[in-house]
Amino acid sequence: MIAETSVGPAQLIQPLFVVAGRGVEQPIASLPGVARLSVDRAVEQGKRLIDAGIPAVLLFGEATAKDATGSSAWAEGGVVQEACRSLRESVPGLILITDVCLCAYIDHGHCGVVAGRTIDNDATVPLLARIAVSHAQAGAHIVAPSDMMDGRVGAIRRALDDACSTTTAIMSYAVKYASAFYGPFREAQSSSPHHGDRTAYQMDPANRREALREARLDVEEGADFIMVKPALPSLDVISAVRAAVDVPIVAYQVSGEYAMLKAAAAHGWLNEQAALREMLLAIRRAGADLIITYGALQAL
Ligand code: PBG
Repeated sequence: MIAETSVGPAQLIQPLFVVAGRGVEQPIASLPGVARLSVDRAVEQGKRLIDAGIPAVLLFGEATAKDATGSSAWAEGGVVQEACRSLRESVPGLILITDVCLCAYIDHGHCGVVAGRTIDNDATVPLLARIAVSHAQAGAHIVAPSDMMDGRVGAIRRALDDACSTTTAIMSYAVKYASAFYGPFREAQSSSPHHGDRTAYQMDPANRREALREARLDVEEGADFIMVKPALPSLDVISAVRAAVDVPIVAYQVSGEYAMLKAAAAHGWLNEQAALREMLLAIRRAGADLIITYGALQAL
């Protein structure tokens, strides 16, 4: 009766890794309980999520062939596009959020086009817009750019509007730290950079004022949701961003946070269920409206 915070299914978003084929379910070693799924299996999982009251999924795909511009990311027959069409048809009511980035599709694994030894921000932005439009046309309700290029939210908004996808919303990974906690995800997606790291475009974990600036800029450019990640290492930032902008705040409990919990639980060092609930509650208490977590079904 006097609890100030709660976590329920309506606040949770489940990430899904979609791959080509049929009947495919490939467990991901560093993310126990999570598997790469072919579209038919993703549809089955979508039904389980809706039945559990979880309203939304965040879709990640894989490249058919990696090249210098990541062109398979916007292919009409790409696996994310196919998943959007199938889920729209077979799981009505499920909200489809798609990750928009180049790293899993580009040959060197960075989130943008590489020119010499730097990332070419402005050459990357139109490619991201192209991916977003292809997702929207396949049925995505919300596109979620995770690349951290400057100016991409505005460019995606204009591209969506020009393509008559005026109702597609944008969930911006606005505050994304260059974090050590993305390791298991990069293994799952084979999206590690082949050279260098992501510190030129992702944020320095030392900075909080910069997080507010990033969040405000993205809202001005048209973001409908602001995301902060990783979640547990950023509780103060979630709280500050919540106070600074009026759109819904989404926290991403990332792969490394989940893997840490699973590893400790496997040793019997933590009560897994209780620790997961406590982490999710803390993220909500900090001010997150929604939480993306690999443990969405499990938390219930
Ligand atoms: C792609 C992307 C990443 C994550 C979400 N989208 C990896 C990265 O930036 O290296 C991380 C998610 C997780 O660790 O669970 N840019």
